[in-house]
Amino acid sequence: MDKKKNISMAVIKRLPKYHRYLSELLRNDVDRISSKELSEKIGFTASQIRQDLNCFGDFGQQGYGYNVRELYNQISTILGLTREYSTIIIGAGNIGQAIANYNKFEKLGFTLKGIFDANPKLVGMKIRDIEIKDIDDLEEFLKGSHIDIGVLCVPKVNAQKTCNLLVNNGVKGIWNFAPVDLSVPEDVIIENVHLSDSLLTLAYLLNEVEEEE
Ligand code: NAI
Repeated sequence: MDKKKNISMAVIKRLPKYHRYLSELLRNDVDRISSKELSEKIGFTASQIRQDLNCFGDFGQQGYGYNVRELYNQISTILGLTREYSTIIIGAGNIGQAIANYNKFEKLGFTLKGIFDANPKLVGMKIRDIEIKDIDDLEEFLKGSHIDIGVLCVPKVNAQKTCNLLVNNGVKGIWNFAPVDLSVPEDVIIENVHLSDSLLTLAYLLNEVEEEE
């Protein structure tokens, strides 16, 4: 899969949506689907779909469409979902608890191995049978366990130092909810989640529609 290296970020960002729709088709026992039908469901044009999927090889046959299972498996492989990822959550406040309580990530292969917080009132509490541990125990924990992804849900002021703690102890993926641009070495990947970006886009579009009316 050498072609993967040249795939644009725009295509990669669309893959989770393909994955989601294909898994729904599988749940509904759909074996195959044309790019036109997929386009109607997913909201991308049929030519966009053909172009996207061509980046990864020869999927789909003229007159037959796509084999849903095969496409789903290929996209799962491209996304790296054929392995398990160990995760920990740092900061067990509103966001940290919401993520910890959401068990669907586990179905995708993201296993929650620990939750850490600095607040003694939270330490010792359990979320889905996982005990919240003291942040002071994080370094020792990381020495004994291989963790792929740290989910950063601490206040902005503590985000960089917490990120450093994770990175210095071998964590290579940071899912960052704090509203701050983190500095990390080149071999560490950060994916930022900013709900407010999405909300502001909604506000813009809402105003655009209202101005047109
Ligand atoms: P919160 O105040 O409910 O929870 C933060 C938790 O982090 C607290 O339990 C606190 O004890 C803990 N904490 C503080 N310093 C720590 C440290 N050094 N180590 C370990 N734990 C520590 O805050 P909330 O609402 O859950 O927000 C968390 C972060 O997410 C904030 O940075 C906030 O700005 C951000 N946020 C991000 C959103 C997004 O769309 N990405 C939306 C809303 C908030």
